Amino acid sequence: MDMHICKNYEDLSTKACAHVVGQIAGKENSVLGLATGGTPEGMYKNLAEQHEKGELSFQHVTTFNLDEYIGLPTYHPLSYRAYMKAHLFSKVDLSAVNTHLPDGQAADLTAECARYEALLRDAGGVDLQVLGLGHNGHIGFNEPGTPFSSTTHIVELDEKTREANARYFEKKSDVPRKAITMGIETILAAREILVLISGADKAEALREMLYREITNEFPATALQQHPNVTILADEQAAKELP
Ligand code: F6R
Repeated sequence: MDMHICKNYEDLSTKACAHVVGQIAGKENSVLGLATGGTPEGMYKNLAEQHEKGELSFQHVTTFNLDEYIGLPTYHPLSYRAYMKAHLFSKVDLSAVNTHLPDGQAADLTAECARYEALLRDAGGVDLQVLGLGHNGHIGFNEPGTPFSSTTHIVELDEKTREANARYFEKKSDVPRKAITMGIETILAAREILVLISGADKAEALREMLYREITNEFPATALQQHPNVTILADEQAAKELP
């Protein structure tokens, strides 16, 4: 794994943006795997600014998000579709037909998981997957205990994850209990993975991801098996590294 320690969150966001820009410059029809959450917000802001300045086009890019809540209408402001619209889709020239998220409202959720996998396959797989890291080691919504052979599936969200995400909702009981997520096998199939980790509260998780034996009790340790992972961590997140 290729590890870069960034001075702070701004530096991390600039470098993450540059990484994505480099990917698109090398392949204009790149397939990007995208994450939501607090960590990539700065990266999306920078990407939108570069587009605004006329320096970056997503015209031929296709995107696949990692996950979506089950049960929130797509127009709900806290759905991941709404997050992506607010932070990226409405600000760049991505074609709507090229932006994909699992449909957490599908009548047949099992069929929806299979449809998403097939769509990914038909698109030729993900060139660059952006990931954040959960405190409990989750990647996407793959909580501790998820088999590494998992593909896109329905998950019951861990209480810790619901607590972490409660900051966006009025109260914790509003946080959905289920989601659809790409599986660990789906994530590891990406040709390249970019992991963004910021803040002192992620320091322990980063250390575990890098140094713990590979175990599905800490899903992010699966990344140790991938041949092309770049990690951007800020100094706060890196403070517990040996
Ligand atoms: C988001 C996702 C999650 C987050 C993780 C970190 O689509 O799949 O795995 O990346 O929970 O979230 P933040 O960045 O909010 O700390």
